[in-house]
Amino acid sequence: MQIRNVQPADYNAVIRQVNDWWGGRQVADMLPKLFFVHFQDTSFVVEENGQIIAFVIGFVSQTYPDQAYIHFVGVHPDQRGRDLGRKLYERFFETVKGRGCKTAQSVTSPFNTTSIAFHTRMGFEMLPGDAVMYGVNTHMNYDGEGENRVVFRKYL
Ligand SMILES: CC(C)(COP(=O)(O)OP(=O)(O)OC[C@H]1O[C@@H](n2cnc3c(N)ncnc32)[C@H](O)[C@@H]1OP(=O)(O)O)[C@@H](O)C(=O)NCCC(=O)NCCS
Repeated sequence: MQIRNVQPADYNAVIRQVNDWWGGRQVADMLPKLFFVHFQDTSFVVEENGQIIAFVIGFVSQTYPDQAYIHFVGVHPDQRGRDLGRKLYERFFETVKGRGCKTAQSVTSPFNTTSIAFHTRMGFEMLPGDAVMYGVNTHMNYDGEGENRVVFRKYL
């Protein structure tokens, strides 16, 4: 098992699996290839036996250079609970800290209980929202009409 930076050539292998990894949710449209081209330094995959079994896509904010942002993290359903998500996040934190970041942010859907549990275990706090959905602080219509989000922040 090795963790390495993403490469553009990884895109097809990842994109054809993400909807399945998200339990059939159609998320592939939120992950265009540009992330595998322009964010290589701060994005990572876990490779085992020649297969990508987990990935994280993140970057340093252009607007707020002391803030990092994680856009996507996914682990193959058969590989969950092996600390792969944790290892990818730790690699990302170490990388962006080295670039001067003080915080990392991420957003997720209020119904994504797995993501909320994972981020909470990884030390993220939920920022106050404008509503409570499924018992969590939620920013209504954050990503457009009906696209409500929980906003996470972690001090690095
Ligand atoms: C969320 C996800 C990335 C977690 O990956 P993972 O490799 O299984 O997580 P890890 O094994 O590294 O777990 C790290 C911590 O999170 C906790 N955790 C992970 N999944 C959990 C779950 N479903 N329920 C409760 N806690 C969970 C673990 O217990 C662990 O905490 P601990 O070390 O303090 O015990 C994975 O479930 C996934 O890919 N989900 C589908 C995609 C998704 O929703 N991504 C997030 C939104 S972009």
